[in-house]
Amino acid sequence: MNGFHRLGDELYVEELPLSKIADIYGTPAFVYSQATIKAAYMDFTNAFADYPHQVCYAVKANSNIAILDLLARLGAGFDIVSGGELQRVIAAGGDPGKILFSGVGKQDWEIRTALEKNIACFNVESASELARLVRIAEEDGQVAPVAIRVNPDVDAKTHPYIATGLKESKFGVAPEEALSMYIDAKQSAHLKIVGINCHIGSQITDSAPYLVALGRLIALIDELQRHNISIRQIDLGGGFGIRYKDETPLPINAFAVAILQMMEGRDEQLIFEPGRMIVANAGILLTKVNTLKSNGGKHFAVVDAAMNDFIRSAYYQSWQDISLVKQPADVDSNPVASKIWDLVGPICETGDYLAKDRQLAIMEGDLLAIHSAGAYGFVMSSNYNTRGRAPEILIRGNEHFCVRKRETIEDQLRLEALPGK
Ligand code: LLP
Repeated sequence: MNGFHRLGDELYVEELPLSKIADIYGTPAFVYSQATIKAAYMDFTNAFADYPHQVCYAVKANSNIAILDLLARLGAGFDIVSGGELQRVIAAGGDPGKILFSGVGKQDWEIRTALEKNIACFNVESASELARLVRIAEEDGQVAPVAIRVNPDVDAKTHPYIATGLKESKFGVAPEEALSMYIDAKQSAHLKIVGINCHIGSQITDSAPYLVALGRLIALIDELQRHNISIRQIDLGGGFGIRYKDETPLPINAFAVAILQMMEGRDEQLIFEPGRMIVANAGILLTKVNTLKSNGGKHFAVVDAAMNDFIRSAYYQSWQDISLVKQPADVDSNPVASKIWDLVGPICETGDYLAKDRQLAIMEGDLLAIHSAGAYGFVMSSNYNTRGRAPEILIRGNEHFCVRKRETIEDQLRLEALPGK
C-alpha cells in the first residue's frame, strides 16, 4: 500500500492534496502517511504470524514520537542505539520490556538508564562492553539481559557505508569470540543470557545473506548448547530493502518463507529490527522550486530543500524518485517544455544535490515531492548553513497533524551564548 497517489492533476497523500499541506505548513516539509506505515508494519508481522516472533522497529530510521506511538500501539517493540532513543520510546508510550539496545559504543550512563528501565535485551558488541555491563549491573544491583551480536561475515551486497556484516567492519564479534563471551557471561550473576543477534546491513533485497547469517547463528547456538548455554531468541536484525527506483526487493512474505524454512524443528523466538521497510515509502519531502538557471549547458532547479534536510542523495548517491505535485495528466499539455534538470539545494557546496538528470517540465514556484524520504530523512537532517530543520506532518485520512514544528532561528540560538567580556 502506498498512501501517495495521483488524482487528476494532483498528487495526494491519503485524502489530502499535497498542495494543501504546502499551503498550510510551507516548504520544505516531511509528510508521512499513517496508513502506509501501519500497512508496512502489519505486512511484516503478519508474514511471520505462524512462528513466535517480535518486530522491534529500528528507531533510528524515523524517531518522531508520533510514529513511535503508532507503532507501539500496533504491538511493536523497539531497537534503540542511544539513551536519547530510549527516552523517545518512553515519551511515546513504548514498552521498555520490548526494547533492545544495539550499538558499538554504549556509554555508562546509557547502560545505567536502560538497566533502570528494565529493557528486554542489551545487544552486546564486544568483550569490553560485556565487562562494563557486568560492572554497572553489579554496582546497581541489577541483572542485565544480554544477547551477543555476532558478525557472521556475510556480504549483504549493499552500499559499503551500510554493509555491517563483513568481518572487517566495526560491528559485532566473530563467532569464536562470541562463544568465549557467552562462556564468561554464564559465570556472572549479573547477566542473564537471553539471545543471539546479528545485523548484516541495510537495503538488502535478497534472502540469501540472511540465510547464510542465520545458518552461522544456528551453528553457534548448537555449539553453545554443548556448553549448557541455552539461547531463547534469535535476532536477525533489520536491513530489509525497499524499492527506490527499479530494485526488486523480495516481498517480506518471501523473506519469511525462506527464513522460517530454516527454523523448522526449532523453537527459538525470532526477533527482527526493520527500520527502512516500515517507514521509507510512507514519507516524502515536499519542496518548492525556488530558482531555475543554466550553467555550462546544464540546467539547475534550485529548490528550497537541501542536503541539510535530506542527505541520502549526497552521502550515498541514493536515487530518490521525484514528482511534480501538480502534473497535468496529459504531459504534452504542460505549458513548460520538459528539460533535464539537476535538483540542487541552496547550500554552498557542489555536493548539495537531491537528484541528478531528471526529465521534468517545471517552473519556479512548482511543488515537488521527493519520494521514499520517510526513513533516514528527517533523522539525518542538520542545521548546516543555519537552516531550521523542516517540520514533520503526519496524515491520517483527511486529517493532518504537525508532529514536529519547523525549527526557528530562536530554537537554534537558544543553546548558544556569547563569552563573558
Ligand atoms: N538494527 C541495527 C543494529 C542497525 O544498525 C540498523 C540500521 C537497523 C537495525 C535497521 O536497518 P534497516 O531495516 O533500516 O535497513 N542511513 C542509511 C541507513 C543506515 C542503517 C544503519 N543501521 C541510509 O539512509 O540508507
